[in-house]
Amino acid sequence: MRYFIGNWKMFGIPSSFKILDKINQYYLKDKKSNKKYKIVMAPPLTLLQDFSKRFKNKKILISAQNSYHQDNYGAHTGFVSPFMIRKLGVSYIIIGHSESRASGETEEIIKNKVSLALKNNFNVILCIGENQKQKRKKMTLKTLKKQISNSIMKKYNFRKIIIAYEPIWSIGTGKVPSHQELKKNALAIKKFIKQKYRLKFNPKLLYGGSVDKTTVGIFRSINELDGFLIGGASKSSKNFIDIIKNFYT
Ligand code: 13P
Repeated sequence: MRYFIGNWKMFGIPSSFKILDKINQYYLKDKKSNKKYKIVMAPPLTLLQDFSKRFKNKKILISAQNSYHQDNYGAHTGFVSPFMIRKLGVSYIIIGHSESRASGETEEIIKNKVSLALKNNFNVILCIGENQKQKRKKMTLKTLKKQISNSIMKKYNFRKIIIAYEPIWSIGTGKVPSHQELKKNALAIKKFIKQKYRLKFNPKLLYGGSVDKTTVGIFRSINELDGFLIGGASKSSKNFIDIIKNFYT
């Protein structure tokens, strides 16, 4: 099963459900959709309740983009907990996005977020990725392993965790890793997780960073990838559908 997950970041107003409607219609028409792939969309917090109701019995699953790292309820002005989001019927959550890390989210906080999200029965999409400097210094794998080890504990149910490898230098830049480089990193991430957490199955791994209808073709043959986390191109139904079409052609 592959995943095409859209991350709208700070985008969308109530009428933007029309974008998802079109994607949903495509999914329903596409004969291979049910068996081959899932679509998950992460709109901003303001749209979660409306979208989770609208798409409840449809094919698109709704994800949150983040949540608070402590408590179900508490004196945390301006924040919402995974408990509160889960009550909206939202079943996926993105944690540790590099844009959240850049605005002060530490690995300790991310660890707590993962733990609380799993307790609330979410499917966690955990983002990891190296920056330009780490890549230049050949510290990519070291960085990724540290990010994984510091946020995931042994006892976790890896069937509820999806790792999203998003090199920071690739997000929103139009630059993507070479086929060879991404295959190597994807293999290394999966191998590391399998060994460290003694898994009997392969963990799920997505790639994110400037995925569009053209770049997706480069990655089509990387079997280690279980899907894509798509930013900019998920804001248009046409661009998003073109990614799926091009992936399967
Ligand atoms: P872009 O697809 O816009 O590069 O964003 C990737 C991303 O950050 C998804 O979470």
